[in-house]
Amino acid sequence: MKTAADYEEQEESFIKTQKGMTAFKRLMSDIFSMRRESAILVVAVLITAIAGTLYPLALGYAINSVIDGNFNGLLIFSASFFVLYVVQFFSNRQRTISSTFLAQSEIKDLRDRSFENLQYVPVSFFSKVRTGYLISRITNDAETLSEFLTFQLPQVVSGIATVIVSVSIMFYKDFNLTLYALIVIPVLLAFSFSIQGKVRRNYLRTRKTIAAITGNLSENINAIRTIKSFNVETKMEGKFDHLNRKNFSANMKASMVSSLYGTTIRVIESVGIAIVLIAGALQLRAGVATVGILVAFVVYVQEFFDPVVQLSQLYNSYQSSMVGVARIYGIIDYPRQATEDTGNREAAFNDAIELREVSFSYGDDDALRDINIKIRRGERVGIVGHTGAGKTTLSNLLMKFFSPTGGEILIDGNRFQDIETGSFRRLLAPVLQEPFMFKGTIYENVLFSNPDVTKEYVSEMIEKFSLSGIFENLPNGLDTNVGEMGRNLSEGQRQAISILRAFIREPEILILDEPTSQIDPYSESLIMDSLNEFLEGKTLILITHRFSMVKLVDRIVVLNEGNIVEEGTFHDLMATEGVFNQLYNIQYGISGDGKS
Ligand SMILES: Nc1ncnc2c1ncn2[C@@H]1O[C@H](COP(=O)(O)OP(=O)(O)OP(=O)(O)O)[C@@H](O)[C@H]1O
Ligand SMILES: [Mg+2]
Repeated sequence: MKTAADYEEQEESFIKTQKGMTAFKRLMSDIFSMRRESAILVVAVLITAIAGTLYPLALGYAINSVIDGNFNGLLIFSASFFVLYVVQFFSNRQRTISSTFLAQSEIKDLRDRSFENLQYVPVSFFSKVRTGYLISRITNDAETLSEFLTFQLPQVVSGIATVIVSVSIMFYKDFNLTLYALIVIPVLLAFSFSIQGKVRRNYLRTRKTIAAITGNLSENINAIRTIKSFNVETKMEGKFDHLNRKNFSANMKASMVSSLYGTTIRVIESVGIAIVLIAGALQLRAGVATVGILVAFVVYVQEFFDPVVQLSQLYNSYQSSMVGVARIYGIIDYPRQATEDTGNREAAFNDAIELREVSFSYGDDDALRDINIKIRRGERVGIVGHTGAGKTTLSNLLMKFFSPTGGEILIDGNRFQDIETGSFRRLLAPVLQEPFMFKGTIYENVLFSNPDVTKEYVSEMIEKFSLSGIFENLPNGLDTNVGEMGRNLSEGQRQAISILRAFIREPEILILDEPTSQIDPYSESLIMDSLNEFLEGKTLILITHRFSMVKLVDRIVVLNEGNIVEEGTFHDLMATEGVFNQLYNIQYGISGDGKS
């Protein structure tokens, strides 16, 4: 079985994510385009760094003044020590505010842009990329970036600036003592970078195990009825427990490694301080150094450690954030309706939609082959065929959700690719095979296709299409809440809403994919009676398994295994011994030899 990681790899190669460094450069240029805030941030970082390097020095001089009995000096240096602290407090605060502002603006922008692009990428994109993948990118990856941009990056930049300035001051003040102070740095760096790989792997494992839990949980909740009816609760519990255990041990391990890292760092730090103290004491004895300078050096060494540790951690979070950012940019950059919609011609439908030698494949075998149909304006065409014959696929092509892999589709003689998709879709209203309900009331769900209609009008339409029987028993009528994905409604009620939604749009072309499959035959016949009048002047494409519905259409196209095998009026087709005849007879319980 494929693991989540395999899917992720497929998705990444499909989206074509960029390299970490390219993504980083692009991210920085995005951020620096917010000029005012980034200038403030740079200044705040510099001030924080400079103040950080000066106050150990002020402390040292204050101590020297005490030893020398220089009261004025003590006053000046203590005061400047205090002032530097205050300055650092404010610049640090400004640094946090600015970096949070920049990071959050950038993340908001990335989320907006990826959401926006997802509205316009071709429908085929969603067959290749899982919902979970996209949700994880737009939430988790953006969150990882938030940590990186808000805290880690500015902290390290100012930390490194502090180290550079401090080391220069130290060399200037006492060359030899500085060399001693720096002895432990290579050890610290080597240790940090060697253990960080381990820290990172453990961290990744915790992320993966928690993702597995979330995935399992959502599938389980969605499938709860299926699970109960097959008595597999215990099995599912076992599976969940297994995943949960994995997450537990991953977290334990990650925490062990991190704590080992933290303690070892402190040990190295104390060794560093001890070296400075001993070397400093020797120099004091020789009269080369002062107590104040020695104290300043001890503070400097302590100050080194945080930036160096942060730097080694930054590398990890840089890598994981850039993987995340590259994926988000991948979503933002994915070409909109790449092949489907290159045109800007306004759609007009006065004559006909024509499919010429159209074929289509989802990847492997052809789902449709050599399809030739001409649908004239005002015509009513039925499409029938066995399950999996390609009916829904054909309707997807007609709605411009996918573009044909072979042949072409023309509307009034213009190629589909040249037509502006939005203008074409304004002409049509679909009733999809799997209608989708948004959270909210029935009325809100109907409004979705046409926000201008009033509740009274919707009620009128319900009467007109004899749908009132279907909504009769609902407690609050049109204000009834449909629940998540419409779960509080019956399948038939959902379908009725979907039909209403299409009809109130008053479209030129209606594409109905099994619109009444969940509606009882009596209600269906009522709907059909009222449909006749409504369809006046409209073009209808009706996919159905129900032969009662076929009465509505002028002409029937029979699909079988992706090919058109028969075409004609109901009577034509009944007169031929073929797929249609066979399907009809089975539905009405007539055996092959004509006897029932
Ligand atoms: N998103 C997809 N990715 C890959 N293959 C698909 C996809 N959707 C459909 N198919 C395949 O294409 C073929 C035609 O499917 P289609 O949904 O068009 O059938 P249909 O005639 O509408 O069937 P039904 O009567 O069950 O609705 C099937 O073999 C199906 O497995
Ligand atoms: Mg179908």
